[in-house]
Amino acid sequence: MRISLVAANWKMNGNRAFAERFFTDLELGDVSADVVVCPPFPYLSQAAQAAEKKGSFKVGGQNLSHEPDGAFTGEVSARMLLDCDARYVIVGHSERRGLYGETSELVAKKFVAAQAANLIPILCVGETLQERDQGRTLEVVASQLQAVKAVIEEKAWECSVVAYEPVWAIGTGKTASPEEAQNVHKFIRTQMGDVGLTVRILYGGSVKSANASALFAQADIDGALVGGASLDAKEFAGVCRAAV
Ligand code: 13P
Repeated sequence: MRISLVAANWKMNGNRAFAERFFTDLELGDVSADVVVCPPFPYLSQAAQAAEKKGSFKVGGQNLSHEPDGAFTGEVSARMLLDCDARYVIVGHSERRGLYGETSELVAKKFVAAQAANLIPILCVGETLQERDQGRTLEVVASQLQAVKAVIEEKAWECSVVAYEPVWAIGTGKTASPEEAQNVHKFIRTQMGDVGLTVRILYGGSVKSANASALFAQADIDGALVGGASLDAKEFAGVCRAAV
């Protein structure tokens, strides 16, 4: 039995006052899913304080360095995230891959660095519109997973979360249909071997409270990674509530 997980990815949005209001407004009383909020780095400690006070969610980073420390200006290490009481970290988001040139090999190193520090990586995979149109969705997802498989033991998947985020569905208002997403999720699970059965696989891409239930009804969709809709505490709580 996999407990659902819903994660908020604020991306580079918000400010101190926004965060204050968000956490005051976030009502998760009747939610059975695990909930994670990933704010920009400067608001991690603020988020962690709210998380401790409310006890209803955990905090995660949006990225990390694959290096433990050193002369890497602008980077943030796994230990630094832990110092801010983060428990999770997103790795390989398509915006990191697409806008900042992160390769699947680098993403795999970040996955390993996160786990080495006892952070739970949320590994993002997904195809672009062009790759989808070429019928290459499963091939692309398999190769993104393969880069991680090449550097971990199969058992390591147990302490991870995977997020299927088709790039064409991110911030566009378009979602994969629940059946389309389910097909890819099932495929992802088979790629992880026997332990795949216990790994939570989230869907991401224009998820909101109005479309979440249909997605969560699919056998292999264990929650969501939410962008735009996670900037509104009530809307985000609605997504969390849809996850049973
Ligand atoms: P949207 O929910 O805004 O489409 O973003 C999805 C996403 O990229 C979450 O990581």
